[in-house]
Amino acid sequence: MHTFMTIQFLMSYPDIPTDGKLILKDLPGSGKRIDVLCRCLASGFDWGIADLERIRIEFAVFLKDDITLFFSKPKEEGTRGEVWWARQIQNALQGNPPNFIRVTDKNLREHITDLLQRNYKIFALDEDGEELDEAVDVGSAQYSFMLGNHRGFDKIAQKVIREHQLPSVSLGTRSYLGSHCVATIISKFELSER
Ligand SMILES: C[S@@+](CC[C@H](N)C(=O)[O-])C[C@H]1O[C@@H](n2cnc3c(N)ncnc32)[C@H](O)[C@@H]1O
Repeated sequence: MHTFMTIQFLMSYPDIPTDGKLILKDLPGSGKRIDVLCRCLASGFDWGIADLERIRIEFAVFLKDDITLFFSKPKEEGTRGEVWWARQIQNALQGNPPNFIRVTDKNLREHITDLLQRNYKIFALDEDGEELDEAVDVGSAQYSFMLGNHRGFDKIAQKVIREHQLPSVSLGTRSYLGSHCVATIISKFELSER
């Protein structure tokens, strides 16, 4: 039987400028590696995930100053990409969020507590963790995966992982790009019989 499920990716990007001042032609420099985040969003929402009847994808992205962006899939179809996502983030940070981005002041610690209360299974993605297939249990319907940024997990993320003893799961011993991890997890869930 197929179960409806939610997969929420959690990421911390403490360097991204929260005033939305970005040069769209220079995302890595002006956006302090916002390009990495935008590729993860494109991977989760744009790269042709198949069965949306069955899987809801979300992202929660924690910036500095306790600014958090929650993303759901845009309803409008179209060709999107890194720059398109950067423009949406810029609009959201400058007070004009599109309907698929919600801006809040809920920080990572508060959000994790909330997810645990809502019975989410939360994993930290880490090359050295337990193999994903072994760790994920068939009975659950709500999963959250913490993903490091281009530098891995920042201090706050590491502390939250330690405090809650969140289990680590691995996609293999090689270090992959974040966007690759997002696509791999979604496709694993899509392929699994539930
Ligand atoms: C580009 S990697 C970070 C690379 C960074 N240089 C480091 O040393 O942490 C971004 C994130 O993807 C996840 N990741 C990358 N490869 C992985 C793997 N094989 N298994 C699980 N997670 C992985 C981790 O959460 C990592 O922090």
